[in-house]
Amino acid sequence: MRVSKTSLPASDRAARLREALLAAEFTVDGVLDALGAPAYAALARSETVPALRATRGASRLKTLVRLFLLQCSVPADRAGDALPLDDALADGWLAGGESAGGGVSGAASGSVRATVDIRPYGGPEGQDWFIVSDLGCSVGGAAGAGGRGEAVVLGVGGASTTLAGLTVRRQVASALDLGTGSGLQALHATQHATRVTATDLNARALDFTRLTLALSGVEQAELLEGSLFEPVGDATYDLIVSNPPFVISPAADGAPGGRRTYRDGGMAGDDLCRTLVQQAGDHLNEGGFAQFLANWEHVEGEEWQDRLRSWVPRGCDAWIVQREVQDVTQYAELWLRDSGDHQAVDDDRYARLYDAWLDEFETRKTHAVGFGWITLRKAALGTVRGGPSIVVEDWPHAVEQPLGEAVEAHFLRQDYLRTHDDAALLAGRFTLAAEVVQEQVGLPGAEDPEHVVLRQHRGMRRATKVDTVGAGFAGVCDGTLSAGRILDAIAQLVEEDPVLLRDRTPESIRLLVGEGYLEPVGE
Ligand SMILES: C[S@@+](CC[C@H](N)C(=O)[O-])C[C@H]1O[C@@H](n2cnc3c(N)ncnc32)[C@H](O)[C@@H]1O
Repeated sequence: MRVSKTSLPASDRAARLREALLAAEFTVDGVLDALGAPAYAALARSETVPALRATRGASRLKTLVRLFLLQCSVPADRAGDALPLDDALADGWLAGGESAGGGVSGAASGSVRATVDIRPYGGPEGQDWFIVSDLGCSVGGAAGAGGRGEAVVLGVGGASTTLAGLTVRRQVASALDLGTGSGLQALHATQHATRVTATDLNARALDFTRLTLALSGVEQAELLEGSLFEPVGDATYDLIVSNPPFVISPAADGAPGGRRTYRDGGMAGDDLCRTLVQQAGDHLNEGGFAQFLANWEHVEGEEWQDRLRSWVPRGCDAWIVQREVQDVTQYAELWLRDSGDHQAVDDDRYARLYDAWLDEFETRKTHAVGFGWITLRKAALGTVRGGPSIVVEDWPHAVEQPLGEAVEAHFLRQDYLRTHDDAALLAGRFTLAAEVVQEQVGLPGAEDPEHVVLRQHRGMRRATKVDTVGAGFAGVCDGTLSAGRILDAIAQLVEEDPVLLRDRTPESIRLLVGEGYLEPVGE
């Protein structure tokens, strides 16, 4: 399909194609059943042989998998059994396939092939959605769509689903997906935002987004072409999400390897992410959230936390989580592999590209790159007391997605802590969060543990070392007694001066509330 602004199939025809895909069970579960778990998992590793073997038969589902995921030509009559063939050819979803001699044949004379990737994608409520992207992306990612160069539009990747899981999903009036690509974030937003705007620098991406939304059977979004916030003017939103082209690369016009719009922002270093974060404040409504995936440089002589803190716009609270750090060699290799450049037949080319990445980092005094999540919340007017809450932390451990509710709860907890001094904290009541357990660490057989750890089994799955008073305190928190009363009882038990205990414990209570082990009651 030459995806263009005019290529959106009439909505009734898109609806008919959707119906046909669903009738053939071309869904996440249907494909998993048809392929079997090993072949399905192999596809995620870009290995197609097991799936090709599993789709040798003639079922409608197997035909659709071969067409839209495996990029095979299939006999036109088989395609006609699986979907409305004339519509699909007229709208450009399919084209004449390869003839036995290798040339392109007309559909009538034998075979057809897909022009785009269509990947079944399950919505959070079990919706059957489809993500439309450039051919080859579903199976091989960027490398699979190789040869399409700068303007390739990728489908679903790990980063896309991470951001979708992190997003705060409260009902809002307006949402913006900046750098929409094949439209996955916009698709999610249609479920809880009255108006959705999706932008991209790459006009092809907007066309793919239109197809993704049409085929998924949801409302269309406002689609705007342009860089960063430029296409939206001074519009403001309740929610902004972006999985931007965050890769810090030497790619610029003329650089070896070339620029890829889905990946390289075209600005030096981490400037694109910084600009995005800094400008977001002006485009958020009061109380609104902006959520980004980002990469950032670790620069010699500078703390990465300070660099990130300096990006936060005035009037916004922020929670920045660094999930991973790679040294510059790992980073260069990751992206050279991702784009398929490691497969260069000419060994020198790979070495030249690798060198260019390292040159760039050396010039910029960058020794490592951090990967993570940035969430901003614009303070509601009149509620800011005692300055913004900016939390910057390293959390490389496993988390439980979706985290949207945990993200919202983080900001509510920061609000609570900012508005409660120590006396108020001691007067407050708390409950232990669900599924927090205590672990005792020490030598086998030892009478007392060396230390006690509280561990969450939900959300961020944090683990925090506490002393015995902290553990005892958390254990008693069932929302009935005030923190002060609990501390007085503990003081009696451990024969400590209750005044001293009340004096020294609020700091630990703050930590336990801030990290979500304890939940304030009645707030
Ligand atoms: C990593 S892809 C994200 C796609 C999709 N939102 C997702 O989550 O899977 C980044 C997208 O940003 C777009 N992009 C690149 N530079 C941009 C810019 N300066 N302004 C807006 N979008 C840009 C690319 O074309 C690409 O579609």
